[in-house]
Amino acid sequence: MKKIENFIARSESNYEQLYKKSIENPSEFWNNIAETFYWKKKWDKTLDYDFNKPEFKWFVNGKLNITENCLDRHLIENPKKTAILFEPNDPNEKSQKISYEELHKRVCVFANVLKSKNVSKGDRVCIYMPMVPELTVAVLACARIGAVHSVVFAGFSSTALAARINDAKCKVLLTADGSFRGPKVIDLISIANHALVDCESIESTIVLKRIGSEISLKPKQTWWHNEILEVTHECPSEEMDSEDMLFILYTSGSTGKPKGMVHSCGGYMIYSAYTFLNVFQYRPKDIYWCTADIGWITGHSYIVYGPLLSGATTVMFEGVPSFPDFSRFWNIIEKHKITHFYTAPTAIRALAKHSVSLVDSNDLSSLKVLGTVGEPINEEAWNWYDKNIGKSKCPIVDTWWQTETGGIMLSSLAGVTKDKPTFATKPMIGIQPVLLNNDGKETSSKNGEGILAIKYPWPSIARTIYGDHDRYKNIYFSAYPGYYFPGDGALTDNEGNYRITGRVDDVVIVSGHNLGTAPIEDAINLHPNVVESAVVGYPHDIKGNALRAFVILLNDKIEIDMENEIKNLISKTIGPIAKPDVVQIVSGLPKTRSGKIMRRILRKIASGEKENFGDISTLLNPEIVQEILEKS
Ligand code: WT7
Repeated sequence: MKKIENFIARSESNYEQLYKKSIENPSEFWNNIAETFYWKKKWDKTLDYDFNKPEFKWFVNGKLNITENCLDRHLIENPKKTAILFEPNDPNEKSQKISYEELHKRVCVFANVLKSKNVSKGDRVCIYMPMVPELTVAVLACARIGAVHSVVFAGFSSTALAARINDAKCKVLLTADGSFRGPKVIDLISIANHALVDCESIESTIVLKRIGSEISLKPKQTWWHNEILEVTHECPSEEMDSEDMLFILYTSGSTGKPKGMVHSCGGYMIYSAYTFLNVFQYRPKDIYWCTADIGWITGHSYIVYGPLLSGATTVMFEGVPSFPDFSRFWNIIEKHKITHFYTAPTAIRALAKHSVSLVDSNDLSSLKVLGTVGEPINEEAWNWYDKNIGKSKCPIVDTWWQTETGGIMLSSLAGVTKDKPTFATKPMIGIQPVLLNNDGKETSSKNGEGILAIKYPWPSIARTIYGDHDRYKNIYFSAYPGYYFPGDGALTDNEGNYRITGRVDDVVIVSGHNLGTAPIEDAINLHPNVVESAVVGYPHDIKGNALRAFVILLNDKIEIDMENEIKNLISKTIGPIAKPDVVQIVSGLPKTRSGKIMRRILRKIASGEKENFGDISTLLNPEIVQEILEKS
């Protein structure tokens, strides 16, 4: 078997050589990488694709099971190595170390539990759980038997959970009696029960006891701890085709309902592992910590799959950076001698507001590599991170990618290629980014600015939107035929380093969360007293962006506090993360003569702009701009 080590870039020239090979002969290149993994049957052809359909098939007819690569193969060399290092919400609760051997056993046991619930290959399982080891066990147990996991972030509301369960027609729901989040206890089971009222496809619900509350389960619900006593720990892995679905993960879009992005087994396995090793330069004794939640793609690829495929020790943290106080992250780094720390710019900005003594009272000398993900990082935050956390000796990888891309697309490689504040820098090996002008023509790759696009497939590109291939085509492949269009703008410096300038569509990244404005407007419009609404993003010091809603009411004389009503409605329909900072009641929205809302003007108003709205005389209702300004 080939060794992946031989394909990891360890110097800048190494990166350049590998990059060149990966572009000149992608099939040969990815063949080599794929051959470093366990396959039950080798593939016939590396890649079949068509950007117009669109269709992507990697490692055609190859057969595998990703859990064999995450678990079984490490049992031969390193069964006692810690796979998961769990740090609970409460610092007084003991942390846990789960070895590869133990994780393998727990996954097999739970896979058998799923089988006993009639779950088989291709069935969808919804996972709505706190950040505890059982969440990773659940994900891998699905993959073990070929069930498709759909993890829903446990901060989503019951309405959002129900919508996701129904979209994928999940057969089983895995949840918990509750979850700990900083000082709060969240009643997860009640939210789940509320959702289940509307979910006919669910045949059974398995409940993990996490908070130990006195609850009685409903029909078709059972306790996790009872179920695992009923089965054996032998569970051979299901043979999966490379292109069989591995998971669905929902992301919000610029219109309507959430998009269930579909990732398949073979390509995702290769790419998540390969990028993990290259970008983070993980070495066998390192302790790697990504602070994301497994409810997001970052958690899927860089807490669970990438690290476990690489035999790494991956930290799972249940809590929040502010509990018991704002030094929690730094305490954990010292406590577990973390070597790799990967977090979001919004967390860095929030923590940087507090005294550096909270940082300096901890020994952070174990750190070797820092990373950021989820949104552009501003220079001030980058410098603070570099100086105070990295002590000016740790490379910072600024990783640009998406739920849809499955893995990191642009990033420096830690300590191997140069980093540059606010720049995601260079493409990953195998990735061919370009900048397009408004006419869809490629512009210069140096000192350029435009729309970012990718012109060749990579193994972990999402294969479709679950149940809606036309929507997949329309969103990502229609605006610029022949390219994948991610929805971000970018610029390049004179060395061809990329800097992401932000979304070019109606998606706003708030605290690193991808929020479409359309679903939030849909939620507001559910209110019987709302006629129309428009939600826009504006720059915010800590969150990167915040939201402001402009709302027209049917009757503005009513007594209730509409601002709060609307915020609560959004919380209930989507989740607290989507709540706008400001709700402004207006009598009209600026519109073009064809009736389109001029969001550009609303964005300027929300950003505090008082003039310079350009020519507004062509609006249907130019006078409304002044009125909105006066009341804002
Ligand atoms: C969008 C994708 C990638 C996992 C987390 C978010 C923005 C992501 C960066 C970065 C600037 C970034 C983009 C992207 N984004 N990483 N390093 N620099 N912007 O995944 O929820 O699918 O959101 O997040 O706008 O399109 P997601």
